[in-house]
Amino acid sequence: MKIVKSPSESKTIVTDLVLPSETNSINTLFGGELLARMDRAASIAAQRHSEKVVVTASVNHVAFNNTIPLGSIVTIKAKVSRAFKTSMEVYLDVWYNDNNNWNTPIKANEAIFTFVAVDEKRKPVVIPQLKPETSEEKKRFDGALRRRQLSLVLAGKIKAEEATELKALFK
Ligand SMILES: CC(C)(COP(=O)(O)OP(=O)(O)OC[C@H]1O[C@@H](n2cnc3c(N)ncnc32)[C@H](O)[C@@H]1OP(=O)(O)O)[C@@H](O)C(=O)NCCC(=O)NCCS
Repeated sequence: MKIVKSPSESKTIVTDLVLPSETNSINTLFGGELLARMDRAASIAAQRHSEKVVVTASVNHVAFNNTIPLGSIVTIKAKVSRAFKTSMEVYLDVWYNDNNNWNTPIKANEAIFTFVAVDEKRKPVVIPQLKPETSEEKKRFDGALRRRQLSLVLAGKIKAEEATELKALFK
């Protein structure tokens, strides 16, 4: 296994339709259905990066900025944005095309998940590091440390005083 990998090595694109059984009462994609689709795409990206079995440790951020109408084609793009010791952040971008926009995809939302690579005893295992390449990958890589600290503070795994990168934001 490589010691360092690029974000493009984990790139995962999942495309699927919005069917009637997957909508809410206003005929747009049900939020929980989108979360499940994103979790699948993100876990594939995390497995591609780590080359291990992964589990979802946390959902750090989801913004439902646009509703996605029934019948749309939904495209989820997932890539590992930063690797730590055994955990990694996956950044997702969601787009859709509908009846009015077959050629220009509309951005629906972004989301950020954290996965942990585990062995057969479900014990966390060390993963390859990530070297960002594009300017967007570098921006997401830099922000990931703050997001990890926020997630660990909220989960009660570190104290607020230990979240130095996060605290620096408020100075
Ligand atoms: C996620 C899990 C493997 C962490 O195991 P653990 O024994 O708590 O391990 P640790 O505290 O040593 O943490 C391991 C890594 O996870 C990270 N982590 C744990 N909880 C986290 C959280 N809430 N947010 C972000 N990262 C987290 C730690 O920072 C650590 O990362 P690092 O090694 O890169 O520094 C374990 O809690 C688990 O199996 N949870 C259930 C996962 C699952 O079933 N998911 C599907 C839900 S339906």
